[in-house]
Amino acid sequence: MTMLITGATGHLGRLVIDSLLRRGVPADQIVAGARTPASAADLPVTVVEFDYDRPETLAPALQGVDTVLLISASVPGVRVPQHAAVIDAAAAAGVSRLIYTSVTRADTSELLLAGEHKMTEELIAASGIPSTILRNNWYHENQLASAQQAAAAGVLLSSSGDGRIASASRIDFAEAAAAVLTGTGHEGTVYELSGDTAWTAEDLAAAISDAAGSPVAVTHLSARDHAAALTAAGLDEGTVGFLTTLDANVAAGALDDDRSDLRDLIGRPTTPLAEVLRSAL
Ligand SMILES: NC(=O)c1ccc[n+]([C@@H]2O[C@H](COP(=O)([O-])OP(=O)(O)OC[C@H]3O[C@@H](n4cnc5c(N)ncnc54)[C@H](OP(=O)(O)O)[C@@H]3O)[C@@H](O)[C@H]2O)c1
Repeated sequence: MTMLITGATGHLGRLVIDSLLRRGVPADQIVAGARTPASAADLPVTVVEFDYDRPETLAPALQGVDTVLLISASVPGVRVPQHAAVIDAAAAAGVSRLIYTSVTRADTSELLLAGEHKMTEELIAASGIPSTILRNNWYHENQLASAQQAAAAGVLLSSSGDGRIASASRIDFAEAAAAVLTGTGHEGTVYELSGDTAWTAEDLAAAISDAAGSPVAVTHLSARDHAAALTAAGLDEGTVGFLTTLDANVAAGALDDDRSDLRDLIGRPTTPLAEVLRSAL
């Protein structure tokens, strides 16, 4: 049983491979797919070139592979053709299982990043390959840069109101992927993977205060004032648009969730946001 992990040089891919090895999967049954194999040379498994933008790398890498974990590509806007190339190659190679990292409620979500995931899920369904969809919520780790700034300034800017984010740590998402890769009976299942405790901007500020040992207060802003403040801080127009749209999505509940799929798959409570903040701050 050979499994290929795409994006193996990334944060999540590396953690999935770690988790597979810790679960006792023999190293010779794990194939790390990397756009630049040299960047994965430290991994103790077989490394193959696997570039979503170069279809000629995909078919050779998939020879003899039973299961593929397709970790979504990293650049929004070009991901659908990249994912389509992998799905087509997996179908042509006759892989027996495809697992894909999607996003919370991808099929109905207004979240600005959801459209490409929804389209990818549809391509996977149309391919006929038995599949499992891992709809990963927000990473705790996404908050670290803004948490560091907030800790230094004593202020957290927000236009997400009382909106909640049910984030989880990358390691928990990686362990869920490894549980599905090594388990049986997951075909045809969509998992909504979220942390046990959803948090608001006020909760985040309190957690940063605790972790940093200095007070952090939330300044609640309208979307327009938030955009103006971020622009004044020197952020480019694209980043300002991304951050304020994200806060509007959060305010509307796009990342709130209370399902226990993640806890159930990993067999333990999810890692609290505070723990990730404490180790970083
Ligand atoms: N849930 C969330 O909050 C959240 C946040 C950020 C990202 N994501 C999504 O989750 C994915 C994994 O997260 P991560 O933290 O592991 O991201 P990451 O560290 O940026 O890793 C992304 C991986 O995708 C690979 N990749 C990008 N373009 C590729 C291509 N054309 N062909 C082959 N591989 C390619 C990268 O390879 P290189 O090393 O060669 O660049 C890298 O291995 C991201 O790619 C993104 O789709 C989710």
